[in-house]
Amino acid sequence: MAIPRYPIETERLRLRPFRGADLPAMLSLYRLPEVLRYLYVGERSVDEIAAALEERKSKTALKTEGDKLVLAVELKETGQCIGEVVLIWLSATHKSAEIGFIIHPNFHGKGLGAEAIRPLIDFAFARMDIHRVIGRCDGRNTASARLMEKLGMRREAHLVENEFVKGEWTDELVFALLDREWQAKQR
Ligand SMILES: CC(C)(COP(=O)(O)OP(=O)(O)OC[C@H]1O[C@@H](n2cnc3c(N)ncnc32)[C@H](O)[C@@H]1OP(=O)(O)O)[C@@H](O)C(=O)NCCC(=O)NCCS
Repeated sequence: MAIPRYPIETERLRLRPFRGADLPAMLSLYRLPEVLRYLYVGERSVDEIAAALEERKSKTALKTEGDKLVLAVELKETGQCIGEVVLIWLSATHKSAEIGFIIHPNFHGKGLGAEAIRPLIDFAFARMDIHRVIGRCDGRNTASARLMEKLGMRREAHLVENEFVKGEWTDELVFALLDREWQAKQR
């Protein structure tokens, strides 16, 4: 079982498990078209978002493959919840994991997305003995693709119209990073 020590601190951020008081932040985040644009999830009711928050509250440990860590991203300076980061344990056999990230548009372009996900990549490689971390995004999601490039992830695939999302065929980009590549970048 792998459980980070909470909160995880970075220079400007605190990553921690979600709690009930995060509902207003979740509502504000998940009602913005620019946030939902390239996500699988669409517009949801208050009750549906509250149920999603309830589920997130328990996603704090990786016990078996398929488990997810879903953490709130809080600004240290104000205590405001400005997004979430995800680490999914894909396979124990293949030692693989997947990352995900969402930051409120008011805070985009300040490097906060990259700052928030780095500790989860560290955790995957250092504490879970993961060999390969991947990230996926819609082919049009330039901010997400740029963020993964900045992390040093390799763009490995551009899958053309491989998914049907929100009424249209969409391309998907796949990025990946190996443990030795991450270690080399930390030196
Ligand atoms: C993807 C996301 C998390 C990035 O958050 P962020 O805090 O802005 O991330 P960062 O500032 O660390 O990096 C984003 C990079 O993309 C760049 N960028 C942002 N919008 C861009 C655009 N439309 N075109 C090109 N580059 C863009 C930024 O300039 C930055 O690169 P830089 O540091 O070289 O200038 C944020 O855009 C988001 O939450 N989007 C909505 C949800 C989403 O799509 N999540 C990803 C699902 S795969």
